[in-house]
Formats: sequence, structure tokens, C-alpha cells
Amino acid sequence: MRIVLLGAPGSGKGTQAALLVEQLGVPHISTGVLLRDAMKKGTELGLKAKSIINRGELVPDDIMAGIIEERLSREDVAGGYILDGYPRNLSQARSLDKILERMVKPVDDVIQIDVDAEQTIKRLAKRAKEEGRVDDAEKTVQKRLRVYAEETAPVADYYAERGLLTRVLGDGSKQEVLQRILSLLNIYDIRT
Ligand code: AP5
Repeated sequence: MRIVLLGAPGSGKGTQAALLVEQLGVPHISTGVLLRDAMKKGTELGLKAKSIINRGELVPDDIMAGIIEERLSREDVAGGYILDGYPRNLSQARSLDKILERMVKPVDDVIQIDVDAEQTIKRLAKRAKEEGRVDDAEKTVQKRLRVYAEETAPVADYYAERGLLTRVLGDGSKQEVLQRILSLLNIYDIRT
């Protein structure tokens, strides 16, 4: 089960990845989480990434390729993974293909979670109040949505051309969205 989740900021990638982990028992790899951990620890990567993330821009591709290659080479991904936040542009999609070709382990499924911008903005405004994530500030969210439309949205076409993409509606409750994803993966034996 090597699954890539795509979707705009706030579409629910992280939420669904965490729920899928419970069902599938494979690790959740989130580049956003890896970068925020590095920021908290104050590592060289964290220091480099901090201002970029807080502006709502993308961390450079070469840095991200190094992070993802290292993570995908660990033993815990032998049975698969849920990848969330990578790839984020066409160059990253090509890098991921090359890394996985070397490992002879191509992506199995790419799931795009579709939620309209009005709803994602509301969700991120709520999270800004509750959790205080700096890049959830209103102006930064607008910037993240622009970066998504310009750079990340074309990644869906990249995978559609390769016959790997399925789209799922991301509105409704978290459990409803999970059920949609599980049925498109043909998983009906649900762990409760
Ligand atoms: P990242 O952490 O990946 O942020 P993002 O893609 O903007 O994703 P979010 O975490 O905001 O949203 P999500 O779709 O995961 O939704 P979530 O489940 O959290 O990246 C942050 C930054 O790191 C980037 O801007 C960039 O700078 C850098 N970065 C990361 N990867 C990179 C890469 N590959 N290359 C370069 N730079 C990179 O849900 C959002 C909220 O909605 C939550 O509060 C949740 O509880 C709520 N929610 C979820 N589902 C529902 C639902 N069905 N109903 C109601 N509320 C819901």
C-alpha cells in the first residue's frame, strides 16, 4: 500500500492519513510534520525552513528530495506508507518517481481530496485560533492557496496521465471522507 494523498491546504490530507494509518497499519509520512519537527528542534533544516514556511512558500526541491529519500529508505516503510505533502510540484513528482524506481517500489494509488476554497479557509481559520499554527494566519493561507493552485494542482494531472489518480470529495465529516477513501481502495473490513 504505497499511497500519495493530494489536496489543497486544509483539505484534510493529514487528518485522513492519520485515520488511514489506523486501518492499514502503515506509517504516515508528512513532509509538513517532518519540517515542523525540525523547526521545533532548531536543526539546520528547521532554521532554513522556518521563514519559508511562515511565508507560505515551498521549501526548495533539492532539500525536500533529500528528506523524502532518507525517509523512504527506512525499514518501517517496507509494507507501504501514506505520503502526505509530497510531491508538491512537477519537479518533486519526477524526483519521487526516480527515487521509487531505484527502489523498484512505484506508487500504487494517488488520492486527491477535493474541498472548495471557502471551506478550507474556514477550517484553517478555526485551527489558527485553536492551535496557533503560524502559517494558518489569514494572509499566509491565501498565499498557500495560490502556491497550491499554481504549483501543486498540476501534480494531479501528472498522476492522472499515468492512470493512478482517483478524486474523492472531502466535505462532510472526517469519518464520511474516510469511508469514501476506503471504498475506493476496495477496503470494506473496517477496524473500529
Ligand atoms: P503541510 O503541513 O503539508 O501543510 P498543507 O499542505 O498546507 O496542509 P495542512 O496541514 O494545512 O492541511 P491538510 O490538507 O493536511 O488538512 P488537515 O487534515 O491538517 O505543509 C506546511 C508547509 O511546509 C508548506 O506550506 C511548505 O512551506 C512546507 N512544505 C511541506 N511539504 C513540502 C514540500 N513537499 N515541498 C516544499 N515545501 C513543503 O486539516 C486541516 C484542519 O481541518 C484541521 O483542523 C482538521 O481537524 C480540519 N478538518 C479535516 N477534515 C475535516 C472535515 N472533514 N470536516 C471538518 N474539519 C476537518
